[in-house]
Amino acid sequence: MGTFVVTGAASGMGAASAARLREAGHHVLTVDQRDADVVVDLAAPSGRARAAAEVLDRAAGRLDGAVLAAGVGPTGGKARVRTILEVNYFGAVDLLTAWRPALAAGGHARCVVFGSNSTTTIPAVPTAIVDALLRGRAERAVAITTCFGNLAAPPFAYGASKIALTRWVRRHAVLPRWAGAGIRLNVIAPGAVLTPLLEGQLATPAERAQIEAFPIPVGHYGDPDEISRWVAFLCTDAAESACGAVIVIDGGTDAYYRADDWPTTVPLTGVAAYVRRTRRWRDRHPGKQAARGAASQ
Ligand code: NAI
Repeated sequence: MGTFVVTGAASGMGAASAARLREAGHHVLTVDQRDADVVVDLAAPSGRARAAAEVLDRAAGRLDGAVLAAGVGPTGGKARVRTILEVNYFGAVDLLTAWRPALAAGGHARCVVFGSNSTTTIPAVPTAIVDALLRGRAERAVAITTCFGNLAAPPFAYGASKIALTRWVRRHAVLPRWAGAGIRLNVIAPGAVLTPLLEGQLATPAERAQIEAFPIPVGHYGDPDEISRWVAFLCTDAAESACGAVIVIDGGTDAYYRADDWPTTVPLTGVAAYVRRTRRWRDRHPGKQAARGAASQ
């Protein structure tokens, strides 16, 4: 059994995931702003640096997996924008980047990152915020987002943080230093799951009305324990071929709104770039694909 780290492990889906991994026999290190092995504020670069270093120290430089669940919801007016962006995006990306060599050390690490179905269901999230995050430009992302005022800024910050995080995972998951080092990076995108985060939103009448108006075709909120089973599965060898996957577990909300948006064909205008990428792959990987187990030999 291995050593896993779980962020956001003091509550909700992070807590359920940590419990599930322990049940599977793993040693679990926890990171949170309270009630954790490593207590830090992931909204601050110094907190992230400390979390990165302390976990590496406690794990003696080798990790078999990571679950990045720490996050804050789309509430609190524009004063909350920086926290949302810093925790949800940099709180995952900075830690994964720092832990990559330790994840590579064992040769078969499993990482699960919490995205959200907000990535596809919050309308009109400005792409400029997403781009700024992906370029590592926190100040610019905060400045753009706060322009949208108290009402729109928090949901835009939340949606953009999760879109950028999901893209970061998909861009990195396939690279030789991640996939080639045996590390699997995948995203779980829950819909409304009944955790303290959602309960906080439901406690405000205006937000409650909005959340209750949101379509969930299966007819109920998600449950943290249910989500933790998906996390635990992605942390097994059975999920070896899941790489850069985004698993939407939202009771059907995304399918309700976006049924025809994915999958979609490669557009004619994208064919040249597609061919270039295929050639680049062939040039860098001249051998044939091997059977599972032979790839790393
Ligand atoms: P939660 O509020 O129950 O747990 C989040 C954890 O993150 C808490 O233990 C909290 O202390 C920790 N955290 C927050 N800010 C932190 C900081 N600055 N430094 C260190 N730790 C911090 O939330 P929940 O619902 O379990 O969410 C888990 C993940 O799932 C989050 O990334 C959230 O964005 C995402 N998500 C949640 C949904 C929901 O409906 N509950 C829907 C879609 C995604």
